[in-house]
Amino acid sequence: MNVCFIMYPWDQIDPENDSTLALIKECAKRGHGLAMCTPANLTIRNSVTNAFCTVLNRMEKVPSSLRAFYKKADLREEMLPLAGFDAIFFRANPPLDPIMLNFLDSVKDDVFIINSLEGMREANNKLYTAAFGDAHSNIIPATHVSKNKRYLIRQIKESKADKMILKPLNGYGGSGVILIEKSAMSNINSLLDFYITNSDGSSNYVILQDYIEGADQGDIRILLLNGEPIGAMKRVPGSDDHRSNVSAGGSVQKHNLTKTEKALCKQIGPKLVNDGLYFVGIDVIGGKLVEVNVMSPGGITYMNKVYKPKVKIEEKVIDFLESKVLDKLQAFDRRARLRKTVEDA
Ligand SMILES: Nc1ncnc2c1ncn2[C@@H]1O[C@H](COP(=O)(O)OP(=O)(O)O)[C@@H](O)[C@H]1O
Ligand SMILES: [Mg+2]
Repeated sequence: MNVCFIMYPWDQIDPENDSTLALIKECAKRGHGLAMCTPANLTIRNSVTNAFCTVLNRMEKVPSSLRAFYKKADLREEMLPLAGFDAIFFRANPPLDPIMLNFLDSVKDDVFIINSLEGMREANNKLYTAAFGDAHSNIIPATHVSKNKRYLIRQIKESKADKMILKPLNGYGGSGVILIEKSAMSNINSLLDFYITNSDGSSNYVILQDYIEGADQGDIRILLLNGEPIGAMKRVPGSDDHRSNVSAGGSVQKHNLTKTEKALCKQIGPKLVNDGLYFVGIDVIGGKLVEVNVMSPGGITYMNKVYKPKVKIEEKVIDFLESKVLDKLQAFDRRARLRKTVEDA
């Protein structure tokens, strides 16, 4: 099959730890055609959606290490029509550009897109997780989203938790996630002004969430494929940070899913699949869902490293991609045959 990865630029890849590179290498190993582009490379050429692609020339032998694969990759530039690919693997970082989705809308019936455009539209920021549970379901910690400063301050004062987390709707990698302690509220007005009001007069929503006790011991990243967990790891924050993100200095350890975490996956898996969110990374603390990452969930290479006997998460993901593409091709073939039957009648 031919796969187009819509992602961050090739030269921004970390050849040691990049999950997207692991997925690309797995495709190359299986002999699939590969092209990469960024969302900004999408183009309409004579009414057909194209992309300025970086095409990976086929390799005689695909090196087993990620670093060697990255170094050896022989690339060329070419403009290619997106509907000619069998699959589009979306791996760009947030925020999601709605215009980019409009480009992809034009090919969504021709190409299998992971995650689905509907799913990405719905889950492109933290509101998707914030509205996941209701007051009785206990899936997520008590969460408020608002632009109303007075409302938010009242929630902090009324909350039973003595610590809370404040985060922007659109961050990733731990950016802007701060801890608020009830005992030190003198800065809260200024902080909320900073998060809510932009210098041009526009405003942002913020998320206020009960701090989950035990978060200083780390959080759990679980990768779910088609609603089922395929790998997990524990991320432990560095000594001078409350956030567990690896990009914020967290370190990674092996983790076997607890009963509660397995039950959480069972509970949320069907909704994820129903929303077209086939490959996601969830962040879990104390059995509670903190975030659903749908755009470019990472962790593949770390999970591969911490597990013995060795696992290769990327193999499962590409197996799934191949099966989805096959389903689509068979459906096209079937339709072509049936059309012919009617035409010949
Ligand atoms: N409610 C919470 N309680 C405790 N820690 C939290 C909470 N929410 C976030 N964190 C910490 O901050 C990190 C980043 O938050 P998250 O919501 O996953 O945003 P990001 O998109 O930046 O990863 C989490 O991995 C966790 O370590
Ligand atoms: Mg996170």
